[in-house]
Amino acid sequence: MDQYAVFGNPIAHSKSPFIHTMFAQQTGQLLHYEAILTPLKGFKEKVQQFFGQSGRGANITLPFKQQAYELADELSNAAQLAGSVNTLLYDRGRIRGDNTDGVGLVRDLAFHNISLRQKSILLLGAGGAARGAILPILEQQPDSLHIANRTATKAQELARQFADYGNVSGGGLEQIPADNYALIINASSSGLSGDRPQIPQSLINNDSVCYDMVYGKGMTSFNLWAKKSGAARQLDGLGMLVEQAAQSFYLWRGVMPETQAVREALRQHLF
Ligand code: ATR
Repeated sequence: MDQYAVFGNPIAHSKSPFIHTMFAQQTGQLLHYEAILTPLKGFKEKVQQFFGQSGRGANITLPFKQQAYELADELSNAAQLAGSVNTLLYDRGRIRGDNTDGVGLVRDLAFHNISLRQKSILLLGAGGAARGAILPILEQQPDSLHIANRTATKAQELARQFADYGNVSGGGLEQIPADNYALIINASSSGLSGDRPQIPQSLINNDSVCYDMVYGKGMTSFNLWAKKSGAARQLDGLGMLVEQAAQSFYLWRGVMPETQAVREALRQHLF
């Protein structure tokens, strides 16, 4: 049977086996998907061993997305621009690296009927997660994208790198230009430690949608703050997780799974 896996460290919390097993059942694809705890110094060997046996594809999570980027024999455009890889495909001895996170974000927004077209978007964070989201956001033709980060220079540098793809600017959390942001996306990792980016409440109005890429039991710190500040809606990253998985599944199997049932099952599984 074709084997698939997610490589990470830690990995026990990963929802990917649950999601992909549901996708396989739903689409009638015969495959096995497992989580592989990968030694911090043994990523390359573990992946090569997997593909040397019956491994056909893999997801890559923390802290190996950068190493997966370096390991791949060839890269998709999305992976190249994101500078990281979350999906590997193995075909006749060659490893191809792709990145489905950004597509996952945009599909989740579409699922929630949120259009980015001609809107002002604010993206918080300038690490790997933020970088992967920039091109997919710009492809939706927003009016503008402002990237704000705790370390201002990193956001400015990202804005420079993507300047050819749209109206994008960058700066620190204290100097966010006043604008009517329709969507504020938290792509910083602050939520992992129960924190949130310190931005002024005045950026939120009763039309604002706030989106936290992090998810968990209950509301994230950022979404709790957004709600208290009067945002119209708060969404967490669970839908993005399912949508990026669906795109990986499609790349491996050529069949696009339906995500609604998996979203519901996963939400129940979390609580
Ligand atoms: P990831 O792959 O999840 O994006 P990363 O590349 O380590 O992780 O990037 C983490 C991002 O979260 C960075 O933008 C970081 O800001 P700095 O560049 O200033 O370090 C941001 N971040 C982490 N903790 C934060 C906090 N408590 N408040 C605001 N931003 C935070």
